[in-house]
Amino acid sequence: MDTLHFACIQIVIALLLFTHAKSTIEGSTSALHPNDAIPSCVAGEKSALLAFRAGLSDPANLLSSWKGDDCCRWKGVYCSNRTGHVVRLDLHGNGQALAGNISSSLLGLHHLRYLDLSHNRFDKVHIPEFIGSINNLRYLDLSGSLFIGRIPPQLGNLSNLRYLNLGYISDTTYSTDITWLSRLTSLEHLDMSGLNLSTLVHWLPSVNMLPTLKVLRVTNCLLKNSPDSLLLSNLTSLETLDLSENHLHKHSRPNWFWDLTSLKYLYISGNDFYGPFPDGIGNMTSIVELDLSDNNLVGMIPSNMKNLCKLESLVSFRNNISGSIAELLHRLPNCSPNKLQDLSLSDNNLTGSLPTTLVEPLRNLNQLDLSDNKLTGHVPVWIGELKQLTNLDLSSKQPGRGHT
Ligand SMILES: *[C@@H]1O[C@H](CO)[C@@H](O)[C@H](O)[C@H]1NC(C)=O
Ligand SMILES: *[C@@H]1O[C@H](CO)[C@@H](O)[C@H](O)[C@H]1NC(C)=O
Ligand SMILES: *[C@@H]1O[C@H](CO)[C@@H](O)[C@H](O)[C@H]1NC(C)=O
Ligand SMILES: *[C@@H]1O[C@H](CO)[C@@H](O)[C@H](O)[C@H]1NC(C)=O
Ligand SMILES: *[C@@H]1O[C@H](CO)[C@@H](O)[C@H](O)[C@H]1NC(C)=O
Ligand SMILES: *[C@@H]1O[C@H](CO)[C@@H](O)[C@H](O)[C@H]1NC(C)=O
Ligand SMILES: *[C@@H]1O[C@H](CO)[C@@H](O)[C@H](O)[C@H]1NC(C)=O
Ligand SMILES: *[C@@H]1O[C@H](CO)[C@@H](O)[C@H](O)[C@H]1NC(C)=O
Repeated sequence: MDTLHFACIQIVIALLLFTHAKSTIEGSTSALHPNDAIPSCVAGEKSALLAFRAGLSDPANLLSSWKGDDCCRWKGVYCSNRTGHVVRLDLHGNGQALAGNISSSLLGLHHLRYLDLSHNRFDKVHIPEFIGSINNLRYLDLSGSLFIGRIPPQLGNLSNLRYLNLGYISDTTYSTDITWLSRLTSLEHLDMSGLNLSTLVHWLPSVNMLPTLKVLRVTNCLLKNSPDSLLLSNLTSLETLDLSENHLHKHSRPNWFWDLTSLKYLYISGNDFYGPFPDGIGNMTSIVELDLSDNNLVGMIPSNMKNLCKLESLVSFRNNISGSIAELLHRLPNCSPNKLQDLSLSDNNLTGSLPTTLVEPLRNLNQLDLSDNKLTGHVPVWIGELKQLTNLDLSSKQPGRGHT
């Protein structure tokens, strides 16, 4: 009996040790404390949160739950299950918004890893420089928060940052120097869309220092410059590049992004790229979505696009693709299986009529838009064989043209 009891205790101790070891391995974000499933608040952090709240204006009373002793139960506040420290503050606005001032008392949250202040109404204040001193931050989202003025270069001190979203903060947010970015060497996701970056000449070298970057979004940034090539590219992890709606006004080739063979999503619409469709496209063997619309690219798509077996979406409306539609269709990826779902080429200069038999690359399309080209002839019967098709547009604005 005693021996059995002792053995039971040993098993319990072993289990506790095991649970503890497991929680240490899994870290603060996913494990439960063995004794105390719900963490309770650290006093100093509670005062920091209250001081932070005192600077805010909260007309919709979003922070009404911020009372009582246990700040870990307050809305938007998340504590580590292991240590009880506040590790995450998620105060993103959602229709209703916070406003007022951002108190530097946030610096009292020494273990803060995640800060989301997006979509609020901080429209009278600048992004505080002290945010650059919240050393442990991995995640920072200030998108749509309406902060005014300059992006503080102090953000470059956040060397642990993985995710940084400065997208569409406000019409008046700008940066005239982004060299601080090159110090964020763990960054994986960077969104600067909508920032006024019009004065930047050499913006790419700062970004090219970030070998872990997977997502780069710089749409609508008034960028005017982009180099022809990256002789030594560090961007070997880059999967998403969104450069659309800038003023790059450049010849289409050579261009640095065709050489990024890791790219899955490339969006360069609305930039006034001109000249022929670059052959380099055919080397982008990882590409899934390609949007080249609203540029001035001329001629036929390159024949080596046949190799792009992962391509799901080819969007190139309002360009100047010319040549026969039959030829174009035969240059589309012909793979097994065919992944192409969206072919949108409206407002181009394609001529001739659709082939009378189904070309395989089109078999899995769910969207086919060839409107406002110079196509002639009948709508072929194989269109009816496209089982996935949900959107079809073959219309033409020009009188006397189009299909009968
Ligand atoms: C703490 O544990 C709960 C329940 O398992 C979980 O929902 C929560 O996300 C954890 N908190 C943190 C900060 O990881
Ligand atoms: C924010 O700070 C300004 C200037 O210090 C002050 O006038 C204003 O009342 C503060 N706003 C709030 C909500 O505390
Ligand atoms: C943070 O960055 C700024 C500007 O980039 C720099 O002047 C300052 O010394 C840095 N602070 C710390 C604590 O590293
Ligand atoms: C962008 O910033 C530049 C220089 O800082 C300024 O001249 C220009 O007016 C700004 N553009 C917009 C649209 O705000
Ligand atoms: C690549 O990144 C490393 C580390 O960030 C940097 O030292 C190097 O200068 C970068 N290379 C180029 C060509 O920018
Ligand atoms: C495509 O890649 C091959 C092999 O890396 C290279 O030799 C060729 O120049 C590239 N083509 C274009 C148009 O960039
Ligand atoms: C279409 O091509 C013809 C000649 O090939 C050219 O004259 C015309 O400007 C082009 N149309 C458009 C919209 O680019
Ligand atoms: C379209 O391309 C054709 C030649 O392919 C050229 O003659 C015409 O000027 C181009 N139109 C525009 C608007 O660029």
